[in-house]
This record gives sequence, structure tokens and C-alpha cells, in this order.
Amino acid sequence: MSRFWHPFSNMAETTSNGRVVFTRGRDCTIVDVEGNEYFDATAGLWYCAVGHGRRRIADAIGRQAAELAACTCFDVYASDVTLRLADRIADNSPVDDPRVFLTSGGSDSIDTAGKIIRRHFTLRDQPQKTMMIARENAYHGMHAYGTSLAGIPANHDGWGTLIPEVAQIGAFDLEALERTILELGADRVAAFFAEPVIAAGGIFPPPEGYLRQAAAICRRHGVLLVCDEVVTGVGRLGQWSASERFGVRPDLMVMAKALTSGYQPLGAVIVSGAVAEPFYAGEGEWLKHGYTYSGHATACAAAMENLDIIEEEALFDRVAALETKLPSLLGPLAELECVSEVRTAGLLAAIQLDTAELERRGTSGAEVNVGCRERGQITRLLACGALQFSPPYTATEEQIGRFGEAVEDAVTAVSRRSPPALA
Ligand SMILES: Cc1ncc(COP(=O)(O)O)c(C=O)c1O
Repeated sequence: MSRFWHPFSNMAETTSNGRVVFTRGRDCTIVDVEGNEYFDATAGLWYCAVGHGRRRIADAIGRQAAELAACTCFDVYASDVTLRLADRIADNSPVDDPRVFLTSGGSDSIDTAGKIIRRHFTLRDQPQKTMMIARENAYHGMHAYGTSLAGIPANHDGWGTLIPEVAQIGAFDLEALERTILELGADRVAAFFAEPVIAAGGIFPPPEGYLRQAAAICRRHGVLLVCDEVVTGVGRLGQWSASERFGVRPDLMVMAKALTSGYQPLGAVIVSGAVAEPFYAGEGEWLKHGYTYSGHATACAAAMENLDIIEEEALFDRVAALETKLPSLLGPLAELECVSEVRTAGLLAAIQLDTAELERRGTSGAEVNVGCRERGQITRLLACGALQFSPPYTATEEQIGRFGEAVEDAVTAVSRRSPPALA
């Protein structure tokens, strides 16, 4: 038995059900130790934008590791590729006068954003401005801030006391956003965290105008807007950021995943000049925060090569084109008896299973998920009972069509196995 403790797992089940061990990946295909091939319909955990097995990125990693794998970026130090990547991210991001803080992933970045915001207000003589507002169904990673901001109860509950200065509101409730700011007092509310499209919570795109109006409310009350673009950033919606698509310029923006397509762990916090100002202006201020691997040279080299590929292959345009096809390719799944809805945004889709109906038939979403795997599809059952679809940007219409057919077949097989109980 391997000693590996799987993240997000029930190890009793994982141990008895058996692991699926992958050994190779090529483009959208991932291969297990027994040679079975699967369509990677989730692009790993949303990250593998350019697909698996890109020799160019492997070579860039190798070259950087041989030259200088990593160096300290604390104090005055940096690697040249770290500086180039930070500027490239800054140039692309819809944040005013941006500064870029690099980390090893999304959770690191959310924690960093939370700490920079609190320190910013302390330096601005507003130390009481500590409250963060987050939303139902939100996923902001699993560090202390991310867990505290979590809107998926299963991720938030059961840890004892978390960061107490967090208020939760309905996912798209603008009235609640303003009311909560007023009730808590604008002088106490530091920031509002939002995923432009709620991702792990179930792929919920916002209603028309939502993010723009939320940004206006935040601005009116001096509350910082943090857009968590860990999933939506770097092309998942066919643009560099979802913030651009929804017409907002956040005060802080968080990215990770598709920055490197997962070839190296990397995250970024893009901070507006106004938020960064007390750390940069005059005599400045030490930011007593940072990670051993902040600005990691090899991770930055992987990101640079990955971004080159995305540009050269015009993969954002490809995502935009595929987005228009998703409703016809996957939408009809909503007609199945055990599927209640299909939601899409960019190259993202959620096939919402009707869990009550599945239960009535003595089965479950977990069985559908396994059924999809048996049909050569790696998807994932989200906490809300939806199957996740977020493939590499290189996916073809044919592959997406086959994914839809496999899901239909798996849902039908599982739900027919146990006919509905008589009322
Ligand atoms: C929106 C969002 N924020 C933050 C995170 C955390 O990122 P990581 O798992 O890299 O720490 C995730 C991970 O899926 C995410 O979806």
C-alpha cells in the first residue's frame, strides 16, 4: 500500500476502491499505468490549458533548471525570468498601475491578497478595516483565508474557529452586498472577493451586469474588489481575464493554474498601484510576507513558454470559438431524466445531475462519475452534484462530442440499472 495521502479524498474509500495511477499525457489524453487512455475533460484541476506533453515547456524548464533553478527573491534579489514574467502579467492585466506578487498557487495567492489588504489598511491608519465579504458557493483555495472565505459548506465547516472577519452573502445578491457593507460599516469592510464565474462551486456564470454593479458598490463604499481568476484567468473565457470580459478593473486580481498550464506550480497576485502605494512610497514599508518559492525561476520559465504557446497558437480565440459550440454539444444532456441543467461559460461546463432522482433510483453522482471514467472520460463530481467540464484549450469539437455521448451513456446506464421506486 502506498503511503501517499491523497488531497481531497476519503482515504478509507480511496484505499479500498483502488487508485487510478496516471503515467503519461499527450495533448487532451491522459494514460494510466495499465495503458488505458482517457480524455482529460477537466484539464487536471482546471489548469492544463495547452494540453499535456508539451516538449517546448519541458525544454524551457530543463534549460532554466540547468542555468539557475531558483534563487531567493526576498529583499533586493530576483531572477531575470521572474522580472520578465511579472511584467508580462502586469502588461496583460486590467488592474491600474499593477504590481505582481508571485506565489506557488491559488491558495497562496488568496492568503497573500488577504494579508496585503489588511496591511494596506493598517498603513492607511484604518486598522479596523478587516472584514472581507465572500459569497455562497465560493472556492478560494484551502489556506487560512481561502477556507475562511469558502462558500461551499463542506470546505468551510469542521475546522473550528477560522478567520472571524468574514461575512458571507448570496452568490449574485447585489442588494445583500450593499446592505452587508452598510450593516458592518464601510469603515470596517476591507474587501469583497469574487470569482467572476463561480467554478468549483458549480460553474455559475454571473447574471448580465453583475460584476460591474458589484464593482460600483465596492467603489462607492471604499471596499476593495478582489477578482479570483485562478480558474477564469489566462484564457478560460477566451480572454486574458474574465474581469475584462465583464468590464471591471479589480483592485486585486489573483491568477494561477493556466499561467503555467500546471507544468510548474505558480500563482500571482496582481495588486493595483493604489493598494501597493503605502509599501512603495516614501520610506516604504517591509512586507513581512513571502514564500521560499515566490518568483521561482523555473516556474517562471515554464509560464513564459506556456504563454508563448498560447499566443502563437491563438488559443484564446480557439476557446472563444468553442464557447459558441458548447450549448449544442453538451446542452442536450439536460434532457436526460437524471440531469437537471447544463451551465456553460467560456470553455467551462457543469452537467448538473439531479441527485435526488439518482438517489430515488438507488444510485449516485459518484457512480455516474465512475461510469464516465469507464467510458474513457476523466470528469469530476463537484460538491453541488455537477460533473465538471474544463478541458485543455486544444480540445476538438469531436472530443467534446464524444465526452457528451459518454456522459449520456453513463447517466443512462446508471439510472436504468435501478428503476425508479414506485411512489
Ligand atoms: C477560484 C479558485 N481560487 C483559488 C484556488 C486555489 O488554488 P490552489 O489549489 O492552486 O491553491 C482554486 C483552486 O481550484 C480556485 O478554483
